[in-house]
Amino acid sequence: MTKDKENHTNDVALWLNGQGVCSDLSATLLPIVNAGIEITDAVLAASLEGKTGAAGSVNVQGEEQKELDIITNDIVLRHLEDCRQVCASVSEEIDELIPITNADKNAPYVVCFDPLDGSSNIETNSIIGTIFSVLQLRRNNRPVTEADILGAANNQVAAGYVLYGPTTSLILTTGKSVAMFVLDCKTKHFVLVQSDMKILPETAEFSINSAYTRFWEPEIFAYVDLCIKGKSGPRQKDYTMRWSGAMIADVHRLFIRGGIFIYPSLNKPGSENGKLRFLYEANPTAMLVEVAGGLAHMRADTIRAHQPTGLHQRVPVILGSRNEVKILIDLYRH
Ligand code: AHG
Ligand code: MN
Ligand code: MN
Repeated sequence: MTKDKENHTNDVALWLNGQGVCSDLSATLLPIVNAGIEITDAVLAASLEGKTGAAGSVNVQGEEQKELDIITNDIVLRHLEDCRQVCASVSEEIDELIPITNADKNAPYVVCFDPLDGSSNIETNSIIGTIFSVLQLRRNNRPVTEADILGAANNQVAAGYVLYGPTTSLILTTGKSVAMFVLDCKTKHFVLVQSDMKILPETAEFSINSAYTRFWEPEIFAYVDLCIKGKSGPRQKDYTMRWSGAMIADVHRLFIRGGIFIYPSLNKPGSENGKLRFLYEANPTAMLVEVAGGLAHMRADTIRAHQPTGLHQRVPVILGSRNEVKILIDLYRH
């Protein structure tokens, strides 16, 4: 790592040190953090450079790629090339696992990432983010396979996201606590602003795309109905609803105000497991939410106990304030 890059990530490096993280894991996370700093500049420049449109290609899930999806994917991959302890990577934008050519023999980590979450927000100048997850593998002197990665999905040793909003924020955990850093754009330095974020156990806010009501499972319908009935219903309190179009912006709100975020299974072809992908959307946000005291479920089962069967597998997602998520889980259990 160059001196310059070290300076950019000083607060993050210090915090990782304080968490007792080994130097190999720090050396894996810091380049991802630097990618977030570079992406901030790319996002700021994109509009005037005419790079906010479609790229003219589709990804493995058949979704239209935006120019910024490709640009941000390339930035993260370029920074990962510096990580000698990362043997492979998985990106939303690439079909197959991505081997990291400079990696040490038996490098133990895999980085799974969504380079740009909320791509449809680009053209409306709304919040977008980068989500990442670090898995630790047991290596045995052979090239890493897709099965190795899927088998290590429950051995997630770090997770985080970078949010490109009015400020660029980094939210990070290595399993002990969740920290928030804000980017000082003048010095290109992430400043620690909160070292132990907690998700409030109660909430009066829910997040779900209600345009799909007709495709919901009965449990989701029953839960949202309770929220909508408000003070005059059995919950005896009024709720408000927010849906940003970028899960990571909705997840970030959970840390600030509490809440429940739901992208459920939909009863329509191709959406039976919802939309969000396990390895680089559900699994990292579940780790962050759980470490902050919240709950992260698919239905009655937890997200983090799930064994994925594909790199881009989708799962239903229910995240947020402990007591509120419990009410929905109870509906699934009865
Ligand atoms: P991505 O831009 O990485 O494909 O992810 C977008 C996802 C997620 O962030 C968001 O919550 C969801 O798509 C919104 O989907 P709907 O348009 O179905 O509401
Ligand atoms: Mn996404
Ligand atoms: Mn994306």
